[in-house]
Order: sequence, then structure tokens, then C-alpha cells
Amino acid sequence: MNAPVVKAENLSRHYSVRGGLFSGSRILRAVSDTSFELQPGKTLAVVGESGCGKSTLARLITMIEEPTSGSFTIGGVEASPANRKQLRTDVQIVFQNPYGSLNPRQRIGAVLTEPLKINRPDITAGERTRRAREMLALVGLRPEHYDRYPHMFSGGQRQRIAVARALMLEPKLLVLDEPVSALDLSIQSQILNLLVDLQERLGLAYLFISHDLSVVKHMADDIIVMYLGRPVEMGSKDAIFAHPRHPYTKALLSATPVADPQGKRNRIKLEGELPSPLDLPTGCAFAPRCWKAQERCRAERPELGAVTHGAACFFPE
Ligand SMILES: Nc1ncnc2c1ncn2[C@@H]1O[C@H](COP(=O)(O)OP(=O)(O)OP(=O)(O)O)[C@@H](O)[C@H]1O
Ligand SMILES: [Mg+2]
Repeated sequence: MNAPVVKAENLSRHYSVRGGLFSGSRILRAVSDTSFELQPGKTLAVVGESGCGKSTLARLITMIEEPTSGSFTIGGVEASPANRKQLRTDVQIVFQNPYGSLNPRQRIGAVLTEPLKINRPDITAGERTRRAREMLALVGLRPEHYDRYPHMFSGGQRQRIAVARALMLEPKLLVLDEPVSALDLSIQSQILNLLVDLQERLGLAYLFISHDLSVVKHMADDIIVMYLGRPVEMGSKDAIFAHPRHPYTKALLSATPVADPQGKRNRIKLEGELPSPLDLPTGCAFAPRCWKAQERCRAERPELGAVTHGAACFFPE
């Protein structure tokens, strides 16, 4: 069997943030003890509310930032500082905002050939151009787009360009951080279908970040549900949509029409505020908002448990 594209073990990223004028610095736990595996050609979706650590996880896996603790491998190779340069081309990222992520002064041809120019000195200028033109076609753009500037494209087209640029170095893994959230609904499905198609053709693995469960339902093989920096549930998409085990997952799904197409959903309204990541409760971080919480939940933190469909809860469904 192939090595997993990513294998992460107890990844954490904590930030030291300054408090007010008279308080010292405090620790913000953006991601803690997160472990997962992603197999070639598969999509692992990361879902959860704003601030739960999705983008931080994306920055760790793309090696934009270093973990505070924990480790991961890419294609079986340890992402150690010594290996990072070599591994960086295997992992590429597409961001949410197709307006901010492209240099307005660069023509699309230059946007696409640049990664090769920097990372592949063995490839000639002629070959770079050929590959960039081929990539334009692969993402559904036209040959004449090669000489245009980013402002001449629609949001959807710019996201196609961002995907094309990410693919120029033939990565094994694409990290997609809310890749369609900034787009109109009608355009979203075009981009999602393009991603599905590219995955099939190129055998890519996706770490797919989204807060939108209807999008996740369309894209994911497996899902990690994050709450305040920790995975609270992990399993196959089918298992999680059919039988959510963690009360938080249940609440998230209850707010999404796709979870129950028959329409007989009972929306669970979460009471209480999301705790501050600077001041996490002891025990289960979800306990203050959980209708099932008992004494034990406030005292002790539940582990994710089972590998196939785990839920970090003492009283799962
Ligand atoms: N460089 C940083 N310094 C301090 N805190 C940070 C930093 N980056 C992120 N955080 C904090 O870490 C937590 C997780 O942020 P992150 O951006 O990963 O969340 P997210 O799940 O991507 O949210 P969203 O859905 O809004 O994009 C937040 O509380 C955020 O304020
Ligand atoms: Mg984010």
C-alpha cells in the first residue's frame, strides 16, 4: 500500500499573544493534538465554526508555519526543517479569496510559469510556456487568457487560475482553504466540479477546508470536525452524516438542510457563547454549550478514541 499523503501526529500550534497594557503575554491554543491521515486521491474535509483552527491547520500542513509540537509526514517523508524545501513542492494551497491571491501586475502566463522558473531550473522557458498553456486548458480557461491580467477575470475564473498555479509543480496534495466561499452560488458548483474532475485525472489528495456542510457533503471522503482547536469527531463522510456521534457535530448538521433531505430536521440551537481560545475550559471545551454535559465533562477531557469513527465525548450518540 502507498504511504499516506499526509500523516499528522499530535499537531499543535499555539500563539503567544499580548494581553492588554498591564497583562503579560498569554497562550492562544489555535490547534492542539490533532492527528489524522490522508490517503492518495482522497479528500479529507475539515469543518467547524470560525476560529476553530482550520486555517492554522492549513498553514501547518503547507509548511507556511511550524507546529509548536507534534509532527507530520508528506508522502512518508518527515516534514522536518531539513526536508521542508524538498517537500514544499508536493503541497500547494488555494486560498479563499481569488482577488487577493493573484499579483495584479502579472499576466496569467507569468503567474503560471513562475513556480517552475523558481523551483525547476531544469525546465526550459519553452517547456514552461507549453506546460502553462496546457494547464490553462486543464482548468477550463482559453489560450488567449495567457496574456491577460488578473483584473480581466471573474471571481470564478480567478479561482481557476489559482488552482492552475497550484498544480504547476505537480503536487501530491492540494490544501483548499474555503476555496469557493467567496464565490456566487452558481459559480461554486462549477469550481467544485472542476476540483472533482482534477482529482480524478491527476490522483490528487485534498485537504478541504470549509464551514459549509453542503459543500463538504459533495466533496469529502472523510471528515474532521474541529471545535476550539481540537478534533471532536472524525470518520467517513457517510458515517458522520448518517450517524453523528458528538453533540457538537449533531448541532452543526441540524443547521444544514442537506443533512436531512426529507426536511424533518430538528434544529439544535446552541446556547451560550463560544469560549475564548485564550481561556479554554478544563474538561471538554464543548461542555459549557452541551445539553448532555455532566460533572465528568467539566472535569476531564474526553479522547477521540476509535480510529474509524471517533468522537471525543463521554456521552456520544
Ligand atoms: N498569527 C496568529 N497569532 C495569534 N492568534 C492567531 C494567529 N492566527 C490565528 N490565530 C487565532 O487562532 C484561532 C484559530 O484561527 P484560524 O484562522 O485557524 O481559524 P479558522 O477556523 O480558519 O476560522 P475562519 O473560519 O474564520 O477562517 C483564532 O482564535 C485566531 O484568532
Ligand atoms: Mg480560516
